[in-house]
Amino acid sequence: MTDRLKDKVVVITGAASGIGAGTAKLFHAQGACVVIADLQEGPGAALAQNLGSRARFIRADVTSESDVAACVDLAVSAFGGLDVMVNNAGIIGAVGPIADTPLDDWNRTLAILLTGVFLGIKHAARVMIPRRRGSILSVASTAGLMGGLGPHAYTAAKHGVVGLTKSAASELAQYGVRVNAVAPGNTVTAMTASLLTGDPSDHEGTRQRIAAGSPLGIAGAPEDPAYGLLYLACDEARFVTGHTLLVDAGQTTGGTIPAFHNGEVRLIGAPTAS
Ligand code: NAI
Repeated sequence: MTDRLKDKVVVITGAASGIGAGTAKLFHAQGACVVIADLQEGPGAALAQNLGSRARFIRADVTSESDVAACVDLAVSAFGGLDVMVNNAGIIGAVGPIADTPLDDWNRTLAILLTGVFLGIKHAARVMIPRRRGSILSVASTAGLMGGLGPHAYTAAKHGVVGLTKSAASELAQYGVRVNAVAPGNTVTAMTASLLTGDPSDHEGTRQRIAAGSPLGIAGAPEDPAYGLLYLACDEARFVTGHTLLVDAGQTTGGTIPAFHNGEVRLIGAPTAS
């Protein structure tokens, strides 16, 4: 099916790379006009140029309220409105034992991963409420639903994104504005390559490392969470709000834990008559 986002206007933060770039390409292929917002000017501008007249690039830091406001305003001035906001920009952030985590590193991580999402929701709501429609999406993480899957600040921020998604959804429903999130499992991008191999360009090494620990035996590609975002973005999901959609190859099922039986069927712990 094509044209699922025909004539929709979308802002995507962190769209110069990884999941954001994959989402920009998919949404554009489905008929959307896309505003690609990122700190990285080179790849962001090149992607917009490749996509053509239905794309714009804007340099933006999601921790800056005026920058986020400018992204939304560009969507309105260039394409006539805003239908879908995708709060995707992110970093791994502070890594290490909690007792050693510097406050500045903690604050910087939360500023990008959580405050950036707050600003995206705030400014998207500003233009969506008067139109009484819109879909606001954020990229959370499996680390937003469980402990032990990411560093402390990252985990706290992503849990915050899941909570803010529900909270904002409860307020904005009255205006016809839906607020949802996608929680990807390990996906091959520059971010995971940096973390797992130390080399942001080593995508093949990263793919092998992720696939080895994946219940389905596959590593996520940027298109995988992008397809989840596509569903939540379009009118097919008109009955869905406040939801965080897992796209994680079964990571949070605990499916990598070895089975605790050998095909044998029995009842363990049943009292025996004595
Ligand atoms: P990536 O490193 O490929 O892309 C992140 C983009 O965000 C980059 O283009 C970067 O320049 C941009 N960015 C970083 N800080 C920014 C700021 N302050 N303002 C504007 N742009 C900024 O990484 P990836 O993996 O595509 O990450 C995208 C989102 O997906 C993040 O929120 C991440 O936490 C989330 N995620 C990624 C997973 C994965 O396995 N790759 C799994 C779960 C969630």
